Amino acid sequence: MQTDDKKTKELLDKATKLFEQTKPFSELIMRYKCAMLEVRTKLDVLNTQLSLENDRNPFESISCRIKSVPSILEKLERKGLSLTSEAIEQNLNDVAGIRVICSFPDDIYVLADRLCSQDDIRLLEKKDYIKNPKPNGYRSLHLIVEIPIFLMDGKKYMRVEVQFRTIAMDFWASLEHKLKYKKDIPGDIDDISRRLKECSDEISLLDLKMQEIHKQIESKVPAGSLPPKKEK
Ligand code: GTP
Ligand code: MG
Repeated sequence: MQTDDKKTKELLDKATKLFEQTKPFSELIMRYKCAMLEVRTKLDVLNTQLSLENDRNPFESISCRIKSVPSILEKLERKGLSLTSEAIEQNLNDVAGIRVICSFPDDIYVLADRLCSQDDIRLLEKKDYIKNPKPNGYRSLHLIVEIPIFLMDGKKYMRVEVQFRTIAMDFWASLEHKLKYKKDIPGDIDDISRRLKECSDEISLLDLKMQEIHKQIESKVPAGSLPPKKEK
């Protein structure tokens, strides 16, 4: 308990130091907010356009967040960086974050490709945890992009993290997140991890099965006009 209190006090002291340079910090956060809005608008535009083409929305929901000050501080501290606006801008890629939840895995790649092919977007990093899931079973596509924002004093490129996952992958990640952050979980943690990994594999199969069914339902070729199956 005492260690927790000590840690909180240390963090608060550091937060105070950071807020001492409050103007550059709030300006930096404002720039991240602008960049996040720009990327969100691009995704909304793609959603609107693709929904006309396909008669359904390629994503189910989108959410945006700016990393909280304690989380920014904790990350700077963990990485051994100084608590300055410069260190944040140069080293943290996820101050501005967008999460896009899609119905089907293919939608993720269509959206990500169309976003990255826009000529004002710079793709800095792509982590495909769908093709290469984490050992715990975590699946998502993560992009770090840079986008220009236009302010009174000129153009500035800012970083935004975009995470794409299916509804099922998101459901899994929320439950797994609890395992990471909840203290005093009763029972065998290894067993919980193993069962979670199993769920992740099942979810991945389910996503693909549902996608196949959806494709078949949407298929323009009437079932009766398919070529007859060859006799064995
Ligand atoms: P940090 O951003 O420093 O954490 O490391 P990184 O850049 O290597 O992280 P990565 O791109 O792998 O993941 C960034 C974000 O994805 C995390 O902040 C989480 O929101 C999410 N994430 C990554 N791995 C997991 C996981 O195993 N479980 C869950 N629930 N979320 C994860
Ligand atoms: Mg990251």
